[in-house]
Amino acid sequence: MSLFTIDPVKCKRDGICAEVCPVHIIDFSDREAVPKPVEGADEECLRCGHCMSACPHGALELGFMPLSACTPIREAFSLGFEQVDQLLRGRRSCRVYKDEIVPREILEQLIRMGRYAPSGHNRQPASWLVIHDRDEVRKLAGMTVEYLRTTLESQPEFARSLHMDSIVNGWDEGRELVFHGAPHVIIAHALKDERTAPIGCVIAQAYVELAASALGLGACWAGYFNMASLNYPPLQEALQLPEGHQNFGALMIGYPKYGYHRIPTRNEPRITWR
Ligand SMILES: Cc1cc2nc3c(=O)[nH]c(=O)nc-3n(C[C@H](O)[C@H](O)[C@H](O)COP(=O)(O)O)c2cc1C
Repeated sequence: MSLFTIDPVKCKRDGICAEVCPVHIIDFSDREAVPKPVEGADEECLRCGHCMSACPHGALELGFMPLSACTPIREAFSLGFEQVDQLLRGRRSCRVYKDEIVPREILEQLIRMGRYAPSGHNRQPASWLVIHDRDEVRKLAGMTVEYLRTTLESQPEFARSLHMDSIVNGWDEGRELVFHGAPHVIIAHALKDERTAPIGCVIAQAYVELAASALGLGACWAGYFNMASLNYPPLQEALQLPEGHQNFGALMIGYPKYGYHRIPTRNEPRITWR
């Protein structure tokens, strides 16, 4: 199958597809003909869909990505800067959750958005583990506390500087402060040695977190759990990630008990202009 086909009637010979292609595999040297893939294009193509997406005429269809699967961008849904401003600055880390389960379909909807985060060479490195079962979430919290407790013993100063003592004390007093009682945890994992994984997974999770707030959910990065999952073998075993994979970022998630009504201030940006 050809990498892409071009409808010669719809194509206006504007060369936009060739110009936007990140790896320059579209040959538009013959301005009278429709663009065509260069030799070896199939191996070089990033499967990013830019050529199809940028064609204003719907003339280009990729062999592996039917046009019918590519949602048109609707002008009417474009957010203004004020809406984006409120979405980004109004999002808060949620640490108080309702005692309510989030349906799997909704969590999957968020993860599906995470796929649209940028990733090096469009490699989309993240795989996802969703701990939907509350008992399992609590078990992982307990194992994280075990790790924090041993770290407090072995490196007390370091552990206290990260407030590990308060998480451990909280647990001993009956408060779960690892996931703050969130019913679910979403973990982005990938092959340890995948070059694009650390940044790709983190941006994908950031998309999930932002989309969660737009759906009325609350989320928060689970840094203590992350640290434990990388350093505490029993927790690594409990996660049962595929061979060679590691956790690159986890979010606790659920319905927030409280909303937020004002946007806190942040440090002034430290910018160097050159
Ligand atoms: C990598 C990372 C790890 C975090 N880990 C935790 C955590 O384990 N527990 C927690 O309550 N908050 C955690 N947070 C949330 C931060 O404390 C929070 O983002 C910060 O205080 C700013 O608040 P805001 O997100 O509401 O703006 C983490 C945030 C990041 C980015």
